[in-house]
Amino acid sequence: MSESYFQEAARSPQTPEDLSLRPPGFEDFHGQEKVTERLMLMVAAAQKREDVLEHVLLSGPPGLGKTTLANIVAAAVGTTLHTTSGPQIEKAGDLAGILTNLQRGDLLFIDEIHRLHPAIEEYLYPAMEDFRLDIIIDSGPSARSIQLQLPKFTLVGATTRSGMLTSPLRSRFGLINRLDYYTKEQLAFIIRRSAEILGLEITEEGALTIASRSRGTPRIANNLLRWVRDYVQIRSDGTITGSTAEAALEMIEIDEDGLDEMDKRILEAMIYKFAGGPVGLSSLAVAIGEDASTLEEVHEPFLIMQGLVKRTPRGRVALPTAYAKIGATLPPETGGQQSLL
Ligand SMILES: Nc1ncnc2c1ncn2[C@@H]1O[C@H](COP(=O)(O)OP(=O)(O)OP(=O)(O)O)[C@@H](O)[C@H]1O
Ligand SMILES: [Mg+2]
Repeated sequence: MSESYFQEAARSPQTPEDLSLRPPGFEDFHGQEKVTERLMLMVAAAQKREDVLEHVLLSGPPGLGKTTLANIVAAAVGTTLHTTSGPQIEKAGDLAGILTNLQRGDLLFIDEIHRLHPAIEEYLYPAMEDFRLDIIIDSGPSARSIQLQLPKFTLVGATTRSGMLTSPLRSRFGLINRLDYYTKEQLAFIIRRSAEILGLEITEEGALTIASRSRGTPRIANNLLRWVRDYVQIRSDGTITGSTAEAALEMIEIDEDGLDEMDKRILEAMIYKFAGGPVGLSSLAVAIGEDASTLEEVHEPFLIMQGLVKRTPRGRVALPTAYAKIGATLPPETGGQQSLL
């Protein structure tokens, strides 16, 4: 298994099977209770007032359900979802084209909204606030600005890097929701639901075994489930049990906490090359030959959640559990150094 397994899992384009596993409504969306409760309330309130939903921001690591929730909200409101993404909007004209195509009440979903070009972002401010678009036509002395009135719409922004969002943009969202990693039990529930949709036999143990290796992420849970399905179809009778799931996941080198080869390489580099840290993200990225943003979006949040790594103002620090994880001995001075941070 290549070390980019989780990155691919996190970013792979959707297959029809993925779409069939995607919960269509709030009632099928398991977990993230605080977020779904708020969204349901917002939808109900807007419907009661016969008004358009406020702009919503969804943030959190890849694969936790941001796109799924945007679709669910659109379905709950009973409106059309227009989908685009930050990098796709290259010119002000692209944005104008999208915005002028909207009908009152439509949902505009902008994925990776932190990657919007700053100049485009400026156009978005009045569009979000006053449903107005100021476009400059011509250039030089004949340049003039014309204003277009837009229908009242809802912007749903999704980002894996909420810290990279500018504050003027952030402040224009009525509701900001951060999605968290799922618990093992929640993932086991999601896995059982997916298994049922795929027509698979799975034991409670089997679901929990896959869940505990899914890095708190439903997309990874579904991907691992599919791998285990293949495994049991060839190596056993087709039923997913605790032991067959374990054997299947061992074959792709995913350990009992869901760490893969790249996670281990990160910990090894921190401990052996940087004496446990603090080490800056870019130095670490160079040392392991990985893209800094992948490190920050995909691997680091999980290592932090697992209590293996800590972020400090001076850089990333490997915690004692990380030493234990890769079987390194903890230097005596590390404890002292860490307590200073
Ligand atoms: N709460 C959930 N219950 C069941 N399945 C879920 C849930 N959340 C996500 N999934 C599954 O995980 C998959 C990935 O979710 P989704 O595409 O919404 O993630 P995302 O947050 O948009 O990720 P990215 O940042 O990569 O765009 C979905 O196709 C769906 O099958
Ligand atoms: Mg998405």
